[in-house]
Amino acid sequence: MTVASPPRIAVLPSDVADQIAAGEVVERPASVVKELIENALDAGAHAIDVAIEDGGRQTIRVSDDGTGMIRDDAVLALERHATSKIRSARDLVGVRSFGFRGEALAAICSVTELELETAPDDGAGTLVRAAAGRVIDVDATSRRRGTTVRASRLFFNAPARLKFLRGARSEWRAILDVVATMALTRRDVRISLSHDGRSILSLPASATPRERLAAIYGGPFAERLLDVDDVSGTTHVAGLVERPSDAGTATRRVFLSVNGRAVRDPGLARAAETAYRSTIPAGVRPTLFLDVVVAGDSVDVNVHPAKAEVRFRDRWTVERAIETAVRRALGTFDAGATFGRRVWPTHVPSGAPSPEANQLDSVPVSPPAADGLFAEADGPLVDQAADQPDSPPVDRPAGSPEVPPLFQLHRTYIAFEHEHGVVLIDQHSAHERVLFEQFMRAMERGEQPAQRLLFPMTLHLGPAESDAFERHRPAFEQLGFEIEGFGGHTLIVRAVPMPHPRFDPERCLRETLAAITGDRGASEHSRHERLAATVACKAAIKAGEALSPAEQRALYVALRDTTLPAHDVHGRATIVQLTWDEIDRRFGRH
Ligand SMILES: Nc1ncnc2c1ncn2[C@@H]1O[C@H](COP(=O)(O)OP(=O)(O)OP(=O)(O)O)[C@@H](O)[C@H]1O
Ligand SMILES: [Mg+2]
Repeated sequence: MTVASPPRIAVLPSDVADQIAAGEVVERPASVVKELIENALDAGAHAIDVAIEDGGRQTIRVSDDGTGMIRDDAVLALERHATSKIRSARDLVGVRSFGFRGEALAAICSVTELELETAPDDGAGTLVRAAAGRVIDVDATSRRRGTTVRASRLFFNAPARLKFLRGARSEWRAILDVVATMALTRRDVRISLSHDGRSILSLPASATPRERLAAIYGGPFAERLLDVDDVSGTTHVAGLVERPSDAGTATRRVFLSVNGRAVRDPGLARAAETAYRSTIPAGVRPTLFLDVVVAGDSVDVNVHPAKAEVRFRDRWTVERAIETAVRRALGTFDAGATFGRRVWPTHVPSGAPSPEANQLDSVPVSPPAADGLFAEADGPLVDQAADQPDSPPVDRPAGSPEVPPLFQLHRTYIAFEHEHGVVLIDQHSAHERVLFEQFMRAMERGEQPAQRLLFPMTLHLGPAESDAFERHRPAFEQLGFEIEGFGGHTLIVRAVPMPHPRFDPERCLRETLAAITGDRGASEHSRHERLAATVACKAAIKAGEALSPAEQRALYVALRDTTLPAHDVHGRATIVQLTWDEIDRRFGRH
């Protein structure tokens, strides 16, 4: 048997080495655009113009009004490891610029035909022409302060990589994404983008996040998003997120930045999504635009070659801050409004409350409550309210709950007028949200007020239902059901929760058991949550039931005091608003 001799080793010629290194930086036209825009931003540009031809496969041109370069630096900039941004390894810690490797221009130059035109002061410019990594000539030129890099015929000298470029449309979409991301990261900079001579984006400087989003994705899209702005400890989370009722209806977009740098970080996105729990169906993912700012020494942004990932010293805290911030945004009444955009005060600021508010202030909104729907029950099924604990504390902000005049419409909706329009509450969805939160609180604290039945109720179940009952037995008990198995598929129900006087425990229990058969496998917490949601749905007042004025008020107040008043537990809106603007428009008043 012959043994093959070992392969011989040789150091690669530098142009081959450069091409290989370039592969890490320059994957496709969009990565060239990203690097060039980052360089412009690092040079302090206030305005950046990007012109693309043929999806970037033919030409990518990025012009800026930044510092520019003197002649010697313009040549040096195309060399590998040539950078003005760090001088030693020490500078790597806490580096603030986008670039610092001194790789990007060299990498781009090694796989394109490149022209670099730059001037540190008006007039005194330099034009460097290079191709495949070699400088062809250097000339003086006259131009205004700033830099223009034009990269043409990407991968003209690397046929193997050229083959992997996608069609112009697909490469163009990736470029649009990169430019949009940079534009959202740096809203202080004016940015324009054109494709094959057509102007595509023209974004003025000094935009608010909503203005920038409107300029990029359109006004109606931006208008529907909810504001997020919240500080937890040293973490500041601000931005815009989708209303739960809109999630899943259009293209999903996610933008995250950490300390001013756009990042792809599934963990942070997941934290924001956690805040949507119980407002949107599983599998539906919301659009998010969030800027996260943390203390500089608690994050390392330089762990990824394209600088798209970050490492936190305490990731958990950052993720919880994001979840809390988004949750707060979703928790406003306004979060469910459908027509028009505005915020309405959910609480009257402290001060002289109206007489009506005073009167309502004394109405407790959690069990046991004393107003209509929420009153202590005394129906024929019940002999006494057994073991009623004190009402759990309600986190109600300072200020008096002022209740506007309410009207029931179609025995289904509660309507009221507000400064900005007409609002409709869906009585069933709203009550479902109220009961769900009440049940979840009760399960966490183990203190659901139970009602002992005068005559125990006997239920005969099918095998699937009794199996479902057994699996959820502890959760049923935590909800206030006291149930005994009675051999076979028979249950004896001795006590039931009594969330409101019209509650029909037998019907609720039967419907709940039917709904949860086959609900297996989930974690205990999510099983409890689903049970609470199902019981809330079955126990809530239905459409078609007339409500007394006191019941309408109690529902309004209870809904307002939930954490997510604008959403039911299935991801539908509980509140719909018609703004005066919209009404005026329909009557042709503007
Ligand atoms: N648009 C520009 N305006 C002014 N100077 C620039 C511009 N683009 C590049 N330079 C100079 O050229 C140098 C090399 O740029 P290059 O992008 O290759 O490296 P870098 O930005 O320092 O690091 P990285 O490889 O991480 O991007 C920069 O450090 C900067 O001094
Ligand atoms: Mg750079």
